Amino acid sequence: MRGFSSGWGRRPPDRAGRVTAPPGRIAYVNGRYLPHGQAGVHVEDRALQLGDGIYEVTHVSGGMPMDEEGHLDRMERSLRELGIAMPMGRAALKLVMREVIARNRIPDGLLYLQVTRGAVKRDHVPPADPPRPTLILTMRAMDKAALVARLEEGVAVSAQPDIRWGRCDIKTVQLLPNLMAKQAARKAGAFEAWLVDKDGYVTEGASTNAWIVDGEGRVITRDLSNAILPGVTRRVLLEAMAGAQMPVVERKFTLAEALAAKEAFISSATGAAIPVVRIDGQPVGDGRPGPVTLRIQALYRHPSSPKNA
Ligand code: PDD
Repeated sequence: MRGFSSGWGRRPPDRAGRVTAPPGRIAYVNGRYLPHGQAGVHVEDRALQLGDGIYEVTHVSGGMPMDEEGHLDRMERSLRELGIAMPMGRAALKLVMREVIARNRIPDGLLYLQVTRGAVKRDHVPPADPPRPTLILTMRAMDKAALVARLEEGVAVSAQPDIRWGRCDIKTVQLLPNLMAKQAARKAGAFEAWLVDKDGYVTEGASTNAWIVDGEGRVITRDLSNAILPGVTRRVLLEAMAGAQMPVVERKFTLAEALAAKEAFISSATGAAIPVVRIDGQPVGDGRPGPVTLRIQALYRHPSSPKNA
């Protein structure tokens, strides 16, 4: 990290008084825009000490955050569930988001927002007199070629036990079970982990929602509960499919059903409807991205295109 941040981390401000850095290396932290090497939070920040914080990830396209209201709705809900205040009003936050996108000079990428309960003397009990929440925004470019390859060729997933907690509907920064599952999946040669509960049902991916298409062409994804994250992309896809009169069922499905499915795919802000072509090494359907998944990709890209009507 040292080598990464040295040099440009000490660049002088530009003529407009802005601190500059290479594209993608400006962070917003509590009111300041700084190069990553100079940005930081208090040592007693509760997210650092206790994992007491939430996050959001939005895809930025053409300089604009996609599905912005949905992400901000979910952010507010996560904070409400944990009793953390919004760090600023929504309109102000949207301005900060645009400023971060502009300063990072990344029109197409990923924007990350983290909100923590703030910095205060360590104690498990959240303080009765809460500190100011910490707000962090960062950006990074997306490997477009890799995304296109995933969308066109599909990915493999590996089943892993879902060892997470009972409130997976909150988008908390506590991601250890997710990253352990993802790491195990990568070790098994897969791109994503599909988390399987103790009854054999797939909950979701480590960082995506999980979908299958059955023999009758019905699209199936797990219904919302505390067991999964209410994906913003999931909702957008459901609305698009409803608009196109495609048959969809929101219910839980087993790993065995997924292995026998015609098609499968995953969704997240980092990739809508990425085909799943192998589960635990076994091909899904004919082992190639299926027509239903490709249609859903097109619906997401061009929601009102006549060919999708
Ligand atoms: N992950 N389920 C989990 C566990 C997730 O972490 C995510 C998002 C999703 C999909 O949600 P959405 O469609 O709103 O992105 C489902 C983000 C991308 C991440 O952690 O990087």
